[in-house]
This record gives sequence, C-alpha cells and structure tokens, in this order.
Amino acid sequence: MAQRSGETDSPARTGEIWVLGATGRTGRAVAARLVADGVAPVLVGRDAGRLRRAAEQLGPGSGVRTVVAATPEATADEVARQRPAVVVNTIGDYARTALPVVRACLPGGHYVDLASDLGAMEQLAALHDEAESAGSTLVTGAGFGVLGTEAVVARLCAGRPVPARVRVDALASVAVEAGRLGEALAASMVDVAATGGRRYAAGRLVRTRLGADVYRFTLPDGVAVTSVGAPSGELYGARTASGAPDVVATSMLVPAAPAVRALLPVAGALLRVPALRRLVVSRLARVELPASPRPREHTWGHAVVTWADGTEREGWLRAGEAMDFTAAAAATVAQRLARGEGKPGAWTPATALGPDLAVEAGGTFVDG
Ligand SMILES: NC(=O)c1ccc[n+]([C@@H]2O[C@H](COP(=O)([O-])OP(=O)(O)OC[C@H]3O[C@@H](n4cnc5c(N)ncnc54)[C@H](OP(=O)(O)O)[C@@H]3O)[C@@H](O)[C@H]2O)c1
Repeated sequence: MAQRSGETDSPARTGEIWVLGATGRTGRAVAARLVADGVAPVLVGRDAGRLRRAAEQLGPGSGVRTVVAATPEATADEVARQRPAVVVNTIGDYARTALPVVRACLPGGHYVDLASDLGAMEQLAALHDEAESAGSTLVTGAGFGVLGTEAVVARLCAGRPVPARVRVDALASVAVEAGRLGEALAASMVDVAATGGRRYAAGRLVRTRLGADVYRFTLPDGVAVTSVGAPSGELYGARTASGAPDVVATSMLVPAAPAVRALLPVAGALLRVPALRRLVVSRLARVELPASPRPREHTWGHAVVTWADGTEREGWLRAGEAMDFTAAAAATVAQRLARGEGKPGAWTPATALGPDLAVEAGGTFVDG
C-alpha cells in the first residue's frame, strides 16, 4: 500500500487486514467473507484456543494467522507494532473500546467498525480532522443498519437540494446462531434503552420518548412489519447522507409490543446507573439463544425523503439475511481501504465509498 502524507517517517505498513473479535459472530462472518474473496485476514482475539478453532473453521489453506491480545489496549499495542493496513473492529461496545485501537491505526492505517449506536459514531466523527491530516480513513457503522439505510438516502438525494425531512427504517431479517447472546450484543441492546429516544429536529439532536414513534407498513414483498423509533446509528447515517435538519430512524430491534414499549423509559433511566448497566449487560450476555432461521426472506432498508416544496421520494434496499449483508459490507470496505480507495477522514460507509457499496455488499435498490 502506498504511504500517505501523514506517515512519511514511519516504516511501511503490511497489506494485512486484521479482524478484531474474530471469535465472535460478526468477526467470524467478516473473516469468512474475506477468505471467500481471496484475502487471508489476521484473526485477533483474547483466547488462543478459540482463535485456533475460528481459524480452523475457515478451512485448510485459508492462510490466516492469529494474534492473541487480551484487551482493546493490548490490541492497540499490537496494531501499533505490527502496522496492518486495515483493522476491522467487531468487539462491540465501541463507545468504550474503539478509541485506543483507532489511535493505533494513525497515521496511515485505516479503521472500520460496526458501531450501531449514536454515541460511538459521533465519537469517531469527532476524529475527522485528525484522521485527515494523518492520511487515515476511519469508517464507522459498516453493517446492515447504517449502510442499508444511508445508501437509500444518498441515492434519493443525489443531485438534489438538501431535503427538509428524512425518515429511515432498518428492517433486518437475522438468523440466530445457537449460543450465548454475548457481551457485545448485550451492551448494544442495553445502550439503546439507556440512551432513550432521539431524533434530529431543526438540525439538533433532541430527546424523544423511546418507543413513542411506531410505524406499521407493508414491505415491497407483501410482508407487514412494525418498526419503532430508535436512537441508532441509522439516525446519524441518514443525517450525514442527507444534511436534512429533521431526521427520524426506526428499527425492528426495539420491541414493538405496547406493554414493553410502555416500560422502556423507566428501564432506560435505570440502565443509566453504571453499576446496574454492568449487571444487566453481564446477565443478558449469558442468555442462551436457540438457533432459529431468519424470520423473513428479505432484509429491507427504507427511506422517505421530503423536500421543502412538498416533493416526497421513497426508496428501498433489498438484501438477504442481515448478517450476510453486514459481513459483506465490512469485508468490502476493508478491501477497498486496503487498496487505498478511501479518502482520509472519518466517515460512514456510503459517505466514504458511495451508495453503490450497498450493491457490492449484496443489496438491490428498489424504487418506491
Ligand atoms: N451495525 C450492524 O449492522 C451490526 C451488525 C452485527 C453486529 N454489530 C455489532 O458488532 C458487535 C459484535 O457483535 P457480535 O454479535 O459479533 O458479538 P459477539 O459474538 O459477542 O463477539 C464479540 C467478539 O469481541 C470479543 N470481545 C468482546 N469484548 C472484548 C474486549 N473487551 N476485548 C477484546 N475482545 C473482546 C469477543 O471475544 P471472546 O470470544 O473472547 O469473548 C468476541 O470475539 C456488537 O456491538 C454488535 O452490535 C453491528
């Protein structure tokens, strides 16, 4: 990989793509996709035995090597020492774990994560100028929810003035693998409730009552679904892709049952107490999930964009199983960054590499 302005005095980087959290669901899926694309990633994790098993699952001849690092800080030390071209972070709890790893990628190395919470994405966005002068590309939200909705928004807005309003709906269909829910996913779920409702109004992020915005609609394939407003990364992606002052994002990950929604504000307030949050995350992480197939054939990203003159445009992105799309999205971003195709700075996936990235990840745009 060519050196960039920010790293002229540093030794050359390897061309390697590292996958952090490589023993987890997302990490294994991203690594498998990279191997399928002919790239041998480096698997990084905190347990040598689990890492070896993850490497074996990729098949003989996959050419992967492993790096054991017990914490995000130890991982950052290895990244700084071994200088991979790209780091894909799937360890989760990004608002608390991402920064040391990101800083170890600078200057010149690139970073990709699958954050889906606003706080973590805004934290990464705040590093834009630093990453730009270091010649590094940081991409946050490289998974279904953010890319699958912001790509539709970017396509609807292309060549038009900044719209007045945007709503995005992330309608994932996910197959569940048997096993523990795990800390990363547990932390993501708890943080949605703890953050409470959010939307952009007049260009500012404002509080709403979590569970108050409920949308019922029929998908292009005829399936009826319910989606609930969420303080998710999709909100940030849609705002960034459109520049619209008013933005709402909904997700099927927030429970739609009225009785549960009624409890969300109280549960959220309790989960903001750090000790209680830790307890709930660790209990939830231990929940054993049975295997189940994806509930619907398709995953859909949906956007409705409204301009000041009343013009409204609607669009969809159709994909298959959501984790397959997510793994393909993260693996594709990593490979493109390794080829030097990213512009320096901190971005969401479609703002870094264009909305057709969603097509490269297996999606199909369907006009509304
Ligand atoms: N944006 C999207 O569309 C999207 C899609 C899928 C997932 N995600 C996000 O990606 C994250 C991962 O989810 P997942 O379901 O793959 O979780 P998971 O199966 O629990 O995997 C997490 C991995 O990270 C490792 N890990 C956890 N905490 C760590 C720490 N403090 N230091 C070092 N390694 C650590 C775990 O290692 P051990 O094996 O040692 O426990 C495991 O390998 C979650 O935040 C999830 O919300 C986002």
